[in-house]
Amino acid sequence: MPNTQKAEKLARLAHQVEELTGSSLYEFRQENKYQPVFGEGDVDAKVMFIGEAPGEWEAKKGRPFVGASGRALDEMLACIGLARQDVYITNVVKDRPPENRDPTPREIELYAPFLAQQIAIIQPRVIATLGRFAMEFVLAQFGLTEPGQKISQMHGRPLEAEADYGRVTILPLYHPAVSLYNRDQRQTLEDDFQVLKQFL
Ligand code: URA
Repeated sequence: MPNTQKAEKLARLAHQVEELTGSSLYEFRQENKYQPVFGEGDVDAKVMFIGEAPGEWEAKKGRPFVGASGRALDEMLACIGLARQDVYITNVVKDRPPENRDPTPREIELYAPFLAQQIAIIQPRVIATLGRFAMEFVLAQFGLTEPGQKISQMHGRPLEAEADYGRVTILPLYHPAVSLYNRDQRQTLEDDFQVLKQFL
């Protein structure tokens, strides 16, 4: 699919998210003058990063991963020679949940089709999940759920999946926020990004 067509399809989807008045998070968005956070980056990206849901800073800016964890993500990308504009970054849930609470099953159900369509349009070769929540969601979507799966065991281990458009590698990663306060975790995340580099 040509770039312009991808961009148009994504813009139409983003507009639908803006108009998602049926979401329980819509009112919270309006009350706080937040914006939905649809996702951004190269529409032809080989690598797509998927986080959980926007935080406050993201909801203020309407852009994914632009707060403290976003800076950590940028640093990790730089470690493997990538910049944000080389990849596509989004979240499972596109509006900020109050107090950064976990999204509810109903909210996930509502926003999940948008993520599925983003994947179908962008057709990434690698999907890197950021954090436990995104990992669990994406593995379930691709039928890769393992019994008793824990991010502590799954991180940095690429898994092969079949998408409608072909093969895709799923790479579970820790959420970049873990690297902010813990040196060991930061090293682990850096090592896992080296795994990602092998797929570029
Ligand atoms: N954490 C997430 O999971 N997503 C964001 O966009 C920001 C922080």
